[in-house]
Amino acid sequence: TTVEWEAESYDMGGHDTYMHKEIHEQVDAVDRVLRGRIDDRFSTVHLGGLNLDAREARGVRRVKILGCGSAYHTGLIGAQLIEELARIPADAEPASEFRYRNPVVDPDTLYIAVSQSGETYDTLAAVQELKRKGARVLGVVNVVGSAIARETDGGVYVHAGPEVCVVSTKCFTNTAVAFALLALHLGRIRDLSVADGKRIIAGLRKLPEQIAEVLRGEEEIKKLAAEYANAKSMMFVGRVRGYPVAREASLKLKEVSYVHAEAYPASELKHGPLALIEPEVPTVAVLPDDDLLEKNRATLEEIKARSGRILAVAHREQEKADHTIVVPRNEVELDPILMGIPLQLLAYHTALALGRDIDKPRNLAKSVTVE
Ligand code: AGP
Repeated sequence: TTVEWEAESYDMGGHDTYMHKEIHEQVDAVDRVLRGRIDDRFSTVHLGGLNLDAREARGVRRVKILGCGSAYHTGLIGAQLIEELARIPADAEPASEFRYRNPVVDPDTLYIAVSQSGETYDTLAAVQELKRKGARVLGVVNVVGSAIARETDGGVYVHAGPEVCVVSTKCFTNTAVAFALLALHLGRIRDLSVADGKRIIAGLRKLPEQIAEVLRGEEEIKKLAAEYANAKSMMFVGRVRGYPVAREASLKLKEVSYVHAEAYPASELKHGPLALIEPEVPTVAVLPDDDLLEKNRATLEEIKARSGRILAVAHREQEKADHTIVVPRNEVELDPILMGIPLQLLAYHTALALGRDIDKPRNLAKSVTVE
């Protein structure tokens, strides 16, 4: 299926910036990436352009996801979803690194290139190198008919609609949802049960309303942004499902507000970055309600013991944190999708408080189509 992009969607629609507009468009955008793809009868999804039949899908031994920047971060989420739902070993790597290291191209690995624009040169070069070496490469792409969409063997369009702001928001979220669909599809061809298929489908269907609920908390997040905007640097941490969210939130803040930020797996803090913690370096902790929550709480204690301020993103108030942004509960596998959204608003309002050029941050282009 293809979705036509209407001319009026380039309009600001009453918002002051495209970033703000695109953050708010996520409710409809997620609805669009799901539309027409869910099959309730078999608790699976149909992805028309995949060009990967059931026999081929069962023969996949590994999945390698390649992309740059935010696209790479959605790849980290995608790899986790594919491992969890389809039980195929999967990982993500920046396409910009992969293409320079003469990688071993394995015929049983399914390669996936991720890109909003479909024109990022590093990602395209990785695809071309893979194709030259006989690999099967799929695309998870937003722009229909773009170079990466054309050069790949098949794939999934993410249907986020046009994204004008240099900083990716709705496309990030839609790409993560597209990966959930792909993981569910691969899972149901392999070992995922009907019950788990139903559970994930129900979770996906809840996302648009839950995103709307997060967006209704914008005023509160705006106040928090004002409180943290003068930080010397920000630390973002998460474990497993929370980690890609921390990576993306840190990139978002840097790009749009120019506030320095670092992202680490929470478990890595004690191996070095804890030395940075002080009151002027607050931590944003992403805390899904999974079996790692207790470990994450212990990390919050370590930060508090060093007088660090903490802003938690969690499903309930965290007593060790100075502030908590509460996000609705969904299936744990889908937590990375929802937990990133308040942090887009945090980056946006931090940039606004600091008077930045939100839609066109300095030194950045929407797509990097050159070497
Ligand atoms: C996103 O906020 C960034 N501007 C950037 O990291 C971007 O995601 C990256 O350059 C890849 O672009 P693409 O998705 O169009 O390939």
